Amino acid sequence: MAIERTLVLVKPDGMQRHLAGLAIDRLENTHLELIGARIATVTDKLAREHYALLEGKGPFTDKKLFEHLINFIKGEYHGDPKRRVLALVYQGENAVQGIRAAVGVTNPEDASPDTIRGAFGRICRKHGYFENVVHASGNLEEAEREIKIWFRPEELLN
Ligand code: CDP
Ligand code: MG
Repeated sequence: MAIERTLVLVKPDGMQRHLAGLAIDRLENTHLELIGARIATVTDKLAREHYALLEGKGPFTDKKLFEHLINFIKGEYHGDPKRRVLALVYQGENAVQGIRAAVGVTNPEDASPDTIRGAFGRICRKHGYFENVVHASGNLEEAEREIKIWFRPEELLN
């Protein structure tokens, strides 16, 4: 199996609810190697770069949902003037799928209770959107693209 790298973000809902430690605990249980970590302020530019490939696709043909996604990752719903997320890179055999398995499926109500999203995610009754705590790259191509957006090469261990 190939050695892969994958990106995880603890999103603003996870940061607001102080779930970063619990999320990392679950991620560490994969025994993959943590090779990068930083707290980042999510600007509009960074948010749009991160989600660029989702714009106009699937549920995001609904412009309102896409703008919600951008506002969400920018921390606009979670009261953090510093707009922070925690960005992590894990490396190892089959890392993309291994991290996705620990994270769980997109809808927290469908996610298995032994995943991060299943254990800690929720659907916000106020606006009906998912608060699924973490982002994880969906495939190797996404992972390589996303890691470049969040990290400079020298910020990652080899
Ligand atoms: O994050 P994941 O790869 O599982 O899902 P995605 O299809 O790439 O969508 C990105 C994010 O959009 C999700 O993690 C959710 O935060 C949000 N989303 C949502 O709120 N409602 C949906 N019906 C679909 C996605
Ligand atoms: Mg995705």
